Amino acid sequence: MEKTLVLIKPDAMKKNIIGKIISMYEEKGLVIEDCKMVVPSRNILEKHYEEHIGKDFFEDLIKFMEGEKIIALVVKGENSISIVRQINGATDPSKADPGTIRYLYGTDIQQNAVHGSANKDDAKREIKIWF
Ligand code: CMP
Repeated sequence: MEKTLVLIKPDAMKKNIIGKIISMYEEKGLVIEDCKMVVPSRNILEKHYEEHIGKDFFEDLIKFMEGEKIIALVVKGENSISIVRQINGATDPSKADPGTIRYLYGTDIQQNAVHGSANKDDAKREIKIWF
């Protein structure tokens, strides 16, 4: 069974919607294989977002997430990587399809409620970082 990593980001944590988000994965038949509430350090965020180091939004992204409560999930199921990405919606909530998590709960391109691994290699790498 394919596994993917989801992060429930600080904006969603503060909106008190973690149950609603987790339900959206479960309703599509995906299973929460592992779950952890974490207050991430800069170090773990740099590892997780290594491909974005140096980009113009990187420091703001770190500021948004460092030292704030988040939830890391391992989500399991057939094609879980692409199904989670469909459920999450486009990175920019203003471009996300209706009914997706980012459409419903995202604020802007940074405060977009959730992260989901982009592909199999990232899923493996990211699960190792958080679990
Ligand atoms: P995520 O899917 O976790 O991957 C990288 C994160 O950087 C993204 O969601 C957003 O939270 C944040 N971000 C902020 N600005 C941008 C941008 N212009 N393009 C992509 N990601 C951005």
